[in-house]
Amino acid sequence: MSTRHLKGSKFKPATESGHRAQIAADIDAKYGPVGDLVQFFVGHAGEGINKWHHYLPLYERYLCHWRNRPLRFLEIGVAKGGSLDMWRNYFGPDAIIYGIDINPNCARYNGVSAQVRIGSQADARFLESVVEEMGGVDVVLDDGSHRMNHIRDSLAVLFPRLSLGGTYIIEDLHAAYWKEFGGGVSEPANIFNTVRELIDDMHVWCHDNGISHAPTAGQVTGIHVHDSVLVLDKGIAHRPVRSKVSADTL
Ligand SMILES: C[S@@+](CC[C@H](N)C(=O)[O-])C[C@H]1O[C@@H](n2cnc3c(N)ncnc32)[C@H](O)[C@@H]1O
Repeated sequence: MSTRHLKGSKFKPATESGHRAQIAADIDAKYGPVGDLVQFFVGHAGEGINKWHHYLPLYERYLCHWRNRPLRFLEIGVAKGGSLDMWRNYFGPDAIIYGIDINPNCARYNGVSAQVRIGSQADARFLESVVEEMGGVDVVLDDGSHRMNHIRDSLAVLFPRLSLGGTYIIEDLHAAYWKEFGGGVSEPANIFNTVRELIDDMHVWCHDNGISHAPTAGQVTGIHVHDSVLVLDKGIAHRPVRSKVSADTL
């Protein structure tokens, strides 16, 4: 696997004893001031949780308005259950939080901070059944296999089920450049080619090519690309109208 992007990326604090404080200080110095999600991250006491530093302010930016509300949050990729703990602390007791993972060992985290269901993000029926059990979904965070076809398949099933005003986040998109994940700079399956399609679909009024990506058509109102992170806003994509206002329209 190409690890160019990752070489030297592991944060090395000066002292082990100050490890957590130094992680928080690094995030604060580069991206801060950021909210208290950072404290839930560095204060995590259970099994491992592994996050790129720049993701934390992005989560805050796109998700803070969901705190302390009966949000329905679905994370693809449970691993050691650490991020589900962090999300529970962040969103509060009213949030309906589900995690899914293909690894049956993740079932041990069911009922700890969230509900955990075992299955593949590439299995449309499984995804549908989880969303049905959740009573709908407001936020999806795809941190699963990072395979291009899986990312696309999950998006096609879950985005249409996302509530209006919902948020769809896909992370670790450095994988888009790696063959092992079905990606590559010139690889047609690179998910950033789909992003280009989403941009073209959003501007469907401006060209004659029609819709390229039917599952999201007419419902993407914002597309935010950050390093390795894609955020899609769900809403009704109205055809733009403009007005001229001047003294004679009073
Ligand atoms: C990066 S880890 C998730 C980390 C976790 N979200 C966190 O922040 O602590 C990726 C997880 O995706 C799971 N996974 C891999 N392929 C999957 C698939 N097809 N469907 C669902 N989960 C999958 C792996 O078993 C692994 O636990």
